[in-house]
Amino acid sequence: MNMNIFQGRSVLLGITGSIAAYKGVELASRLTQEGALVDVILTPSAQKFVTPLTFQSVTGRKAYTDEDLWGGEGHVTHIGLGRVGDLLIVAPASANTIARIAQGIADNLLCVTALAARCPVIIAPAMDAGMFSHPATQANVSILKERGVTFIGPAAGHLASGLVGVGRMEDTAAIIGAARWKLGHDGNLAGKKIVVTAGGTQEAIDPVRMVTNRSSGKQGYALAQAAIDHGANVTLISANCSLPSPFGCKLVEVSSAAGMLGAVLDEIQDANGLIMAAAVADFKPVQIAAEKIKKDTGLASIELEPTVDILHQVANRRGSLANLKCVIGFAAETEDLLENARIKLKKKKLNMIVANDISATDAGFGVDTNRVILIKQDGSAESLPLMTKIEVAETIIEITAQILE
Ligand code: CTP
Repeated sequence: MNMNIFQGRSVLLGITGSIAAYKGVELASRLTQEGALVDVILTPSAQKFVTPLTFQSVTGRKAYTDEDLWGGEGHVTHIGLGRVGDLLIVAPASANTIARIAQGIADNLLCVTALAARCPVIIAPAMDAGMFSHPATQANVSILKERGVTFIGPAAGHLASGLVGVGRMEDTAAIIGAARWKLGHDGNLAGKKIVVTAGGTQEAIDPVRMVTNRSSGKQGYALAQAAIDHGANVTLISANCSLPSPFGCKLVEVSSAAGMLGAVLDEIQDANGLIMAAAVADFKPVQIAAEKIKKDTGLASIELEPTVDILHQVANRRGSLANLKCVIGFAAETEDLLENARIKLKKKKLNMIVANDISATDAGFGVDTNRVILIKQDGSAESLPLMTKIEVAETIIEITAQILE
């Protein structure tokens, strides 16, 4: 059931002459662990930093060098690699290789492959800050961006020169995120906009205190990633989460239920799907103290009033939102799970509700696993076994794609 975007996909990984070549080893290893078939191509300068054997050891596959360009199989290799790839990543990419690819110079196996490849290309530059900001490099980057190449980084930080500047190769996780986004482009949600909410809202009592809940945002972020893996154009409305946002999504950060309501109503105007995974506060303090409430002043009680129910507001507008064909809610319950979830499904006019028993220690808030029951519009219920939140997200997104078909 768990679709892994990398499983069985052919990823060509170009390594060029940069000290960041050692980070390319980590990237090759991660891609392989994710299930990709990774064919590494080293330029002659890359081999001054790392060896083909290093990559063969982590990918379990041959790593290519210019010797293969001129070897017995050279006539096949030189365009063959470019043809089989689902994705070409050049990481680290030196200024020299970026210039060669931009100008169509094909004097080593990596550049020949880049010229022959018809798959998407991601480039992660790594060089001295002065080389990256040089007009020549910037012009080459612009040419490649115009041709649809995705650049990731470089990041700011300590450089091999001892200076601090923009030139460091992006982290492996960020490059993996960009690769997922590219590989997902032709998925079954391509061309669809999906809005996902995540996290727990905070309702202020005074400038330092608030009413909130235990939501970590893990399920919502996993949903956003799964939707990107399926090619969707994703807006992630996030309340108070400290998770890295998936590459390729539009992140809208909010704090309170009112902030989330405004963001949701804005974003659903042109959306095809909405998945409300956020734990929205049901109550907020009637008054927010302008100054910090002092201990000596005392606070006998906090008067609360209901917040607006976002899904109710969406339900009221569905008649005028022709594209919004799939609205999914969550039901966090501690008792009478099915009955309460079915009531919410009807009241909020949902296409599906994901019910979870948050009293279990291995499911719900904060943990990496979830045990949910999916209840569809017709009332039918499907109990899923204990799964990771990533697997739950994948299942929900598959159903979303079916509803939007
Ligand atoms: N929700 C919402 N707006 C709120 C509260 C909740 O849109 N003000 C959404 C949640 O994101 C979730 C669904 O409604 O998708 C159900 O949330 P839940 O907290 O389980 O139910 P409530 O409707 O708040 O009812 P109760 O707290 O009484 O169980």
